[in-house]
Amino acid sequence: MSEFRITRTLPEDAMAAALRADVRNGLTSDPKTLPPKWFYDARGSELFEQITELPEYYPTRAEREILAGRAAEIAAALPARTLVELGSGSSEKTRHLIDALPRLHTYIPVDVSDTALEQAGRALVAERPGLSVHALIADFTAALTLPHSPGPRLLAFLGGTIGNLLPGERAEFLASVRALLSPGDALLLGTDLVKAEEVLVRAYDDAAGVTAAFNKNVLSVVNRELGADFEPDAFDHVALWDATNEWIEMRLRSRTTQTVKVPALDLAVHFAAGEELRTEVSAKFREDGVSAELAAAGLGLERWWTDGEERFALSLSVAR
Ligand code: AVJ
Repeated sequence: MSEFRITRTLPEDAMAAALRADVRNGLTSDPKTLPPKWFYDARGSELFEQITELPEYYPTRAEREILAGRAAEIAAALPARTLVELGSGSSEKTRHLIDALPRLHTYIPVDVSDTALEQAGRALVAERPGLSVHALIADFTAALTLPHSPGPRLLAFLGGTIGNLLPGERAEFLASVRALLSPGDALLLGTDLVKAEEVLVRAYDDAAGVTAAFNKNVLSVVNRELGADFEPDAFDHVALWDATNEWIEMRLRSRTTQTVKVPALDLAVHFAAGEELRTEVSAKFREDGVSAELAAAGLGLERWWTDGEERFALSLSVAR
């Protein structure tokens, strides 16, 4: 007896309020910033899908390779009856895991996009009789309450998206993940790894310019949602490696001195020529650092799998 349910824990207007607050805070701070979560409207999600197929952007392929090759080992290490996936999107990579978990009773995909959840959820219940899919429309960076479901629980956070959080936000996020788990439950975490600077920079500054379009798309989102008059082509895409913090930064560099109006916030934002707006941090990790951050949150690293070229890692850590 399979079933599909979808629950909205995110109030309809909460996203709009969060965007307004983020844009006001980010564009009035020095240096200017915008959080990366606003890249992903329909156009941004489409551009991100294109990025995952670029020759330069290796993380998606590397993580898929690990999941495809290690799903049975992951399932043996944690024979989950409930699988929770944060930022599930199309749930495409997770199929390997679901197929490898014969005792799986409930799959809980969590995403801000209701369309992605609907499509992926309905397809899954049709294919896997007996599986309950309880989709949650929620922002996983905010507090989550999970529906009741049998343990053990495996919570997956894939794609390297944890790298978009700053260190303090990461600690807070991992503590909130730990709070969703009982002792013996586990976290399956995808992390991109530190590697040669050229390889990293190219992954965020591709020859075809798809990442540049993705980066500038955040300006179109602010234009549409808040009536702003950003001219995307008045900014250049910048991707740089910060060797001290071991993260990639994406920025938008103003080509000229200009003032952008954001009517919904009653705001005028001045940019000097060459001034940069930070739009994303994408941290890269090492095993020691991941292990230490997990331990600080009450999660003990038990397994560490990488792709053949050691570009990306999946870690399994167990709640103490
Ligand atoms: C989906 C957040 C992991 O940081 O690599 C891709 C997003 N940004 N190219 C990443 C992204 C620029 C991506 N994550």
